[in-house]
Amino acid sequence: MEFQDVVRRRRMIRSYDDRPVDRAIVDRALANATHAPSAGFSQGWGFLALDTKDDVGRFWAATTAAASLAAPDSWLRGMMRAPVVVVPCSSKAAYLARYAEDDKGWTGRDEDRWPVPYWHLDAAMASLLILQTAVDEGLGACFFGIPPERLAPVREVFGIPDEFDPIGAITLGHRVADPGAAGSPARRERKDPDEVVHRGRWLH
Ligand SMILES: Cc1cc2nc3c(=O)[nH]c(=O)nc-3n(C[C@H](O)[C@H](O)[C@H](O)COP(=O)(O)O)c2cc1C
Repeated sequence: MEFQDVVRRRRMIRSYDDRPVDRAIVDRALANATHAPSAGFSQGWGFLALDTKDDVGRFWAATTAAASLAAPDSWLRGMMRAPVVVVPCSSKAAYLARYAEDDKGWTGRDEDRWPVPYWHLDAAMASLLILQTAVDEGLGACFFGIPPERLAPVREVFGIPDEFDPIGAITLGHRVADPGAAGSPARRERKDPDEVVHRGRWLH
């Protein structure tokens, strides 16, 4: 697919059918994720890949209240059918360690030096490559948040080490149909570049 089509066609897909996803596609998405840029080439990310019914079921059980799981709403019903869930994680420790190396020399590991949390930024860039790979393969994907109170169960169930923080999760699968604009984009307009680009000086 043309790059411009991948960009334009990408939208978050929240309803899947239960056809399995070819393992090679999942592998390609994950390999593409590792081609994301990363500050200092730290690559302080990790990807929990769940592609069996059991593992995906354990993910939803860990992230969802029992009552919602028993009577899932349409969002949850559509999302739970996705045969693949990826949990991208970021490691702040990896960045603090990398930037304390000789060629960077931030030996103090002082967190105030960081203009923004590069560890989350890089994992997010990697996540976008997973979303874009899904589009390129004719599949759908959705990045979504894990509620804060559900992070501990996710860590526990899947053995995510303390130094890695899940930044969210991504469902991947065959779309039921192109739903058109869904979620917030059905209620809000995409901003025009003129509204958000400030050429030369921020005047408005
Ligand atoms: C950081 C982040 C968190 C998001 N969390 C959720 C979420 O919890 N549930 C959900 O359905 N969509 C979530 N989304 C998807 C956004 O709602 C979606 O990207 C936005 O409305 C624009 O729509 P589009 O991606 O389909 O163009 C999230 C997106 C991002 C980037």
